[in-house]
Amino acid sequence: MSKIGLFYGTDTGNTERVSKRIKELLEEKLGAGSVDLLEIFRKKKEDMAQYNLLILGMPTWYDGELQGDWEEFITEMTQIDFTGKKVAFFGLGDQYGYASYFCDALGLFGEIVEKNGAQLTGMWPVKGYEHDFSKAQRGDQFIGLCIDTDNQDELTEERCAEWVNQIIGEFNLS
Ligand SMILES: Cc1cc2nc3c(=O)[nH]c(=O)nc-3n(C[C@H](O)[C@H](O)[C@H](O)COP(=O)(O)O)c2cc1C
Repeated sequence: MSKIGLFYGTDTGNTERVSKRIKELLEEKLGAGSVDLLEIFRKKKEDMAQYNLLILGMPTWYDGELQGDWEEFITEMTQIDFTGKKVAFFGLGDQYGYASYFCDALGLFGEIVEKNGAQLTGMWPVKGYEHDFSKAQRGDQFIGLCIDTDNQDELTEERCAEWVNQIIGEFNLS
């Protein structure tokens, strides 16, 4: 089985916590060692390009801005050929405090990987969220799992568990 590369960036630790839980949930189903957990800080394109199955986790900061380490990685990212790769995103955000920018970062990165040939997986329904606008939204779906630890942390575990089952299927690992 090909390994999953789970890359994340974080400023205050929420995305790191969720990333670790997603890795645990995946490995409960797929076996220990099936997920490499990697912080995006100072990574190069080769670090990401070696995986055909990718999970990318990122918060949104400062009215729709990118987390700093992901922002630094953009140039590397635009140079990766994602043809044949499946990419699932998850984003951290605050749907009430930043209702017009909820999990915006996913929108930008989603466009980059799709333009470079990736198959996007892990789409997630907008039902159950109360934001006004999000660049991560397409119709009635987000392009990845949105997690709001600021306001709905009681839903984090069940959202992660359901999404993990979904991407195991979409990655053809079931
Ligand atoms: C100053 C500030 C700006 C923020 N801007 C946004 C935003 O534009 N969109 C959003 O969805 N969340 C926003 N958030 C919420 C964070 O994304 C959220 O707290 C997230 O869980 C942080 O993840 P991290 O701990 O991995 O850095 C903001 C939070 C703060 C404190």
